[in-house]
Amino acid sequence: MQEFDLVITGGTIATASDTFQCDIGISDGKIAALGTGLKGAEVIDATGKYVLPGGIDSHVHIAQPSSGGIVMADDFESGTRSALFGGNTTVLPFCLQQKGQTIRQALNDYHAKQDGECYTDVSFHLIITDPTPEVLGQELPAAFEDGYKSFKVFMTYEDMRLNDAELLQTFDVARDFGATVMIHCENEDAIKFLIEKHEAAGKLRPTSHATTRPVAVEREATHRALSLAEVVDIPLVIVHVSNRAAMEEIGRARARGQKVTAETCPQYLTLTAKDLEGMDWEGAKFVCSPPPRDEKEQEACWEGIINGTFDLFSSDHCPFRYDSEDGKLNPRGRTNFRYVPNGIPGVETRMPILFSEGVMKGRIDLSRFVAVTSTNHAKTYGLYPRKGTIAVGSDADIAIWDPSETRVVAHADLHDGSDYSPYEGMELTGWPTTVILRGKPVIAGGALKSEKGNGTYLRR
Ligand code: URP
Ligand code: ZN
Ligand code: ZN
Ligand code: ZN
Repeated sequence: MQEFDLVITGGTIATASDTFQCDIGISDGKIAALGTGLKGAEVIDATGKYVLPGGIDSHVHIAQPSSGGIVMADDFESGTRSALFGGNTTVLPFCLQQKGQTIRQALNDYHAKQDGECYTDVSFHLIITDPTPEVLGQELPAAFEDGYKSFKVFMTYEDMRLNDAELLQTFDVARDFGATVMIHCENEDAIKFLIEKHEAAGKLRPTSHATTRPVAVEREATHRALSLAEVVDIPLVIVHVSNRAAMEEIGRARARGQKVTAETCPQYLTLTAKDLEGMDWEGAKFVCSPPPRDEKEQEACWEGIINGTFDLFSSDHCPFRYDSEDGKLNPRGRTNFRYVPNGIPGVETRMPILFSEGVMKGRIDLSRFVAVTSTNHAKTYGLYPRKGTIAVGSDADIAIWDPSETRVVAHADLHDGSDYSPYEGMELTGWPTTVILRGKPVIAGGALKSEKGNGTYLRR
């Protein structure tokens, strides 16, 4: 009988459609057989555990300069190591085109940062901030042809936002080449108006971050983005949706026949604007956009996870440090909420949060968990079925979850480059204890068994 390089036996396997028990035979980095009585040179006994496709986090920011110039607290080494410990085998970070940069320059710079540094497989989305005629006419089409087939555009952030005309032009190029458009929906003019009001009233603390970005600015921008997509006739990925009104806009667009993929994130299920009220600027640890809302909106987002409104559950990992060795990394951010860089860490806690709060608490089943944390990401961004499932021929990217393990989240136990977790103190049950990347156990017994550089760039 054939001997496989590695056999995983005894566990309960889940894909986005089925849950079943059998052995997995792995050879040459690929899943070679699903069956019983398989023989392996190496055997992992997964009795009592769940054997799931490795997580794919399709929305992470690594080594990206923020608005305001503060560089994110993770490079590719720390960011992908942290991702791996959280049960991920692939992440899709953003390659930012800075104003005035060619797409090629942006890609060359960003590839130089990831080369030889990664623990997980990676593939880039572009961020387009400067859609000049050259970018739209030559550079973007060339990038698409090179396999960079997805990009994000922003309706907020002064230095990144596109206006409606630019959105339409950018959508049009995406349509011609079948590229995937992700969009951040918040109305920058309304936010700016509210920021000026808050400053005039001396309301400068982190909590003003939430009150200057109310639901209406997200709802309006979501509606506008979907309308512009309808005009051009393209599908859209609406990222980091935080509330029911925006979900309803997505529902209406779908009812009209538009193809919309929708994403939400852990912060919208577990945090609220109250977290921004912390003493001594502690609230700055929860500044992300859109901001966390309230319990009712959390419930709405849970409904969306359960009923299929959301296809994707991503971290929007965007790490900054709260303190640094020499005191405050961002002293300006301690004077006015508008200078706190937007974004929070979360690539390592994304799946444990959904596993514990979703699967263990009976809100969703294992297949739904797999769909929104892995399979749908692969399908949305052109990696399926190589990634995102457990099937013969797929890459052997697997996370083995122990549903009996309970841990209290403490940043000291995490592996990212930030210095806090917004989820500190949460008790979570169910953690990935073994992670296999293309057939190689890279985390075993909760310990790292890999080196940077074992993750590769995935051309799409
Ligand atoms: O606050 C956030 N989400 N920062 C990351 C950048 C983005 O908009 O996704
Ligand atoms: Zn965004
Ligand atoms: Zn984003
Ligand atoms: Zn983001």
